[in-house]
Amino acid sequence: MTTPILIDCDPGHDDAIALLLALASPEVELLGVTTVSGNQTLEKTTANALRVLEFVGRGDVEVAAGAEQPLVRPRFVAEYVHGESGLDGPSLPPPRGGPVARHAVDFLAERILGSDEPVTLLPVGPLTNVALLLARHPAAAERLGRIVLMGGSIAEGNVTPAAEFNVWADPEAAERVFSSGLDVTMIGLDVTHRALVTPTHAARLRDSGRTGTMVAELLDFYSVFHRETYGFDGSPIHDAVAVAHVLRPGLVETAHRHVAVETGSELCRGRTVVDLWRRTGHEPNAHVGVGIDAEAFVELLLERLATLD
Ligand code: RIB
Ligand code: CA
Repeated sequence: MTTPILIDCDPGHDDAIALLLALASPEVELLGVTTVSGNQTLEKTTANALRVLEFVGRGDVEVAAGAEQPLVRPRFVAEYVHGESGLDGPSLPPPRGGPVARHAVDFLAERILGSDEPVTLLPVGPLTNVALLLARHPAAAERLGRIVLMGGSIAEGNVTPAAEFNVWADPEAAERVFSSGLDVTMIGLDVTHRALVTPTHAARLRDSGRTGTMVAELLDFYSVFHRETYGFDGSPIHDAVAVAHVLRPGLVETAHRHVAVETGSELCRGRTVVDLWRRTGHEPNAHVGVGIDAEAFVELLLERLATLD
């Protein structure tokens, strides 16, 4: 059975690769893409989503632009990771098309309510649009099958020692999502940092065709931050792990735990406090990624990208 999905993203190198993986996978039907400010400004993340879709001939997939800034916090873009364009590396032409006129939040509601099957929503950027969906269209939110988000972490942070970027960028939005009562899966740094795409993998991508070459060029740029910051010999394709989890259940091992989001402290702003050992007595509210078959993920990713051209 094909699962209808919607991807809310902030392209962003790993968002772009997540979009390509979804487009290359028969297990899912991409009903649309929404964009949010995060890795770059909304204008740039929206243009990047359009550029990636057009690059593989999928300009038919509609894109709707969403929030220009977080619910409460000032906007902060991760130019130090993704570059001035948000997709530095390959020379992708500017988009020919544009986003639909509807706001992302209304677009998401329309697609969710219009689907015969429950939709899986994959937020892979800050959760501003998703929190707004919960507030503005609660009936649509209730019709969601599940939310599989890339964000948070049990242990380490990346934007601060305490927090992962997507949750840190809009912690109030994240708190709303985790306390929504919906079926939420959290694909965090604990698993994404364990599944790196290495230069050897990139060489295979270059040999796999036009799209593989473009992805290798994305990785040429994206790997610099990870080598300089972590000493990694490769790049974590965070957002693609969330897509892979939908494609192949079991590839990521999860544990049903309570997750709270720190919004009061500046030091620990955006920390996802995962009750891994069930010490609080709080009811679990998320399926948290605790393990990953890294080799299976990378092989699935490379195999699927090779089918695009
Ligand atoms: O922390 C990693 C996440 O932040 C990824 O989604 C990346 O694209 C950025 O949005
Ligand atoms: Ca992202």
